[in-house]
Amino acid sequence: MTPNTTIDPKALRNAFGAFATGVTVITTRQPDGTPRGFTANSFTSVSLDPPLLLVCLARTAHSADVFANAPHFAVNILAQDQKAVSGLFASRAADKFDQCAWTPGSAGVPLIDGSLARFTCARHQLVDAGDHLILIGRVEDFATTEGQPLGYFRGNYFSIGLEKDLAEAAAATKDSRLGAVLACNDGVLLKDDGDQLRLPLAPHPTLDSLTAKLAALGLTPLIDFVYAAFDDRTTGGHAIYYHGSVSGPLPPGYRIVPLADLAQARIANPAEAQMLARYAQDFRNGSFSIYHGTETTGQTRQIGA
Ligand SMILES: Cc1cc2nc3c(=O)[nH]c(=O)nc-3n(C[C@H](O)[C@H](O)[C@H](O)COP(=O)(O)O)c2cc1C
Repeated sequence: MTPNTTIDPKALRNAFGAFATGVTVITTRQPDGTPRGFTANSFTSVSLDPPLLLVCLARTAHSADVFANAPHFAVNILAQDQKAVSGLFASRAADKFDQCAWTPGSAGVPLIDGSLARFTCARHQLVDAGDHLILIGRVEDFATTEGQPLGYFRGNYFSIGLEKDLAEAAAATKDSRLGAVLACNDGVLLKDDGDQLRLPLAPHPTLDSLTAKLAALGLTPLIDFVYAAFDDRTTGGHAIYYHGSVSGPLPPGYRIVPLADLAQARIANPAEAQMLARYAQDFRNGSFSIYHGTETTGQTRQIGA
């Protein structure tokens, strides 16, 4: 890596682009009620108490004055199918809000339909920062939905392709299975077959099938990432297990096994037993890893806290 002593703004922008981010649309209303919005990837969560977030706004943006003076604004975190929405709000089109679906939220601030999370904020502070303004908002209201985010890296959009590819590979292979390690209170949700325990499996090896099954059991799942993907030589198929959490009343035929008891639990499938032992350890370490390989030997890769 060569240090850059004379700072070339273009090179600096490219280097900043090495930080992969999500994509947001920041929205507000100008004093006459007209909705305004722009695409931003400079969003950062700042504080939980008080609840603060920030976004950096170029002084050259058409909407800079409107946002600098707005008493309220919202941050809409885009889902992976909202690339066109990002493009629309990154343009200088005068009719951005005529070209996308939105709903007025609290304080009348427009909220973009289909976004993964929305935060409505009261303006907390405006900080001068070179050619940008830092808009700090105090969160007054927020909502989230399940789904995959739209990502941005070095000027290109990306989605969580690895997981999708793995899931599609699993779905395409005969004898493949898709299950989940689901945290529930202080334990893990397991299917109780009488004398043996198993992880919940989807009827068909797709994520939709898994979430539909959990919903049919009266549970509310929150699936977050692929936890293990491996070739199961005993069945000749792929196995893919997601990581997530679940809430709701315990359905008949299921048990919540506390983390401390996982090592001794009678898990029917040896690969699942190994995975649950790793899960208990990951949980204690406060950091999770993804496993890939075969049902008995493979590698783990750190994926975050
Ligand atoms: C992925 C992406 C991220 C962006 N992030 C920011 C940002 O954080 N801050 C900013 O001021 N502009 C950002 N822009 C550019 C603005 O969206 C763009 O300048 C837009 O035209 C501003 O709208 P306006 O001119 O109508 O205010 C980004 C554009 C894209 C495509």
